[in-house]
Amino acid sequence: MFQFTCHGQSHSLQPGQYFARPRELGFRDTPSGELLALVAEIEQGRPWRDAVAARYATGKKWLHRIVTDPSRTAFFNEVLPGGPGPVLDIGSGWGQTARPLAHERPVVALEPVAERLAFVRATARQEGVQERLAGLGADYLEVEFATRFAVICAIGVLEWVGAFQDAADPRQRQRDFLSKTRRELESGGALVLGIENRLGLKYLLGCPDDHIGVPHIACLPAELAARRWQETSRHALRSFTYSLVELDRLLRDTGFGQVEFFAAFPDYKLPERIINLADGGAALHEFLRSGALPPEHNGYDGSPLGQSLQAELAAQYHALAAAGVARHYVPSFFVRAR
Ligand SMILES: C[S@@+](CC[C@H](N)C(=O)[O-])C[C@H]1O[C@@H](n2cnc3c(N)ncnc32)[C@H](O)[C@@H]1O
Repeated sequence: MFQFTCHGQSHSLQPGQYFARPRELGFRDTPSGELLALVAEIEQGRPWRDAVAARYATGKKWLHRIVTDPSRTAFFNEVLPGGPGPVLDIGSGWGQTARPLAHERPVVALEPVAERLAFVRATARQEGVQERLAGLGADYLEVEFATRFAVICAIGVLEWVGAFQDAADPRQRQRDFLSKTRRELESGGALVLGIENRLGLKYLLGCPDDHIGVPHIACLPAELAARRWQETSRHALRSFTYSLVELDRLLRDTGFGQVEFFAAFPDYKLPERIINLADGGAALHEFLRSGALPPEHNGYDGSPLGQSLQAELAAQYHALAAAGVARHYVPSFFVRAR
């Protein structure tokens, strides 16, 4: 049983149950009507992977991979603490983390966008894991859990929590988000993040940012990035990523005493290699010297990088490894914080 309050009202949620306070504004990579039509097909019995492939495998390959690629769960073995304790998956999206985890342990899938949560629910039912998965349709910052979790996952979420609202400073919302996860973990519990590195080498060399889709802005320090984005787009910048040093400091400032970083190549979304960055990145340096760098991609639309940029990345990583600083420039991080 999961206990929480939402806008002052107390609620409890059993595995298998759903509570929703859906919001209009939200992260969407698919029109809501299209996703609801897909959910209806799945509820009528079409295997969900077939339904997703029929719509996206040729026309929207990047989305198809983001939703179905087996690498989405590669961090389970390398980063996520095992055990039977309950997991809160914040920003569940299409259920890439919550659904597979519910095969093993109780999970609360928290996702503010109603049709995304409907997809998680329909696919969990089809995989027969609905009895271990509860769904909560709300913004994480609107909910207070009385339940304490063994693990809280936020994969591709921290960078977005300041967006889709105009009221609060986005970076303060990110700090509030992290402090709240710390409070809602049981003693010894771990927060697991997946997030791009603000200083990822590909961004410094001119690849578009994964969130705003243009180069040379989001990789700047936050205040300068916000100013440049305002000048360029006439919009406030609301998505922020961090360097290794910044994210480490942010986690420590919000109550985490032990913070472990992992590099994800080509990124945390579709990781082919996850490398523990302990010991100053010794394992990373060995990996980069081996020349086995997987091809990287444009993280905004999934398109491959040109050969010359790929060669440039390999050469520069080599130099950064030789200087002992490559961990600061990897494309994405997984982080385990306690
Ligand atoms: C880039 S998607 C990542 C989805 C999924 N975790 C994955 O790994 O593919 C970001 C998700 O975070 C959700 N999100 C954004 N702000 C949120 C908030 N304040 N509370 C809960 N979820 C949020 C969005 O609705 C969206 O589904």
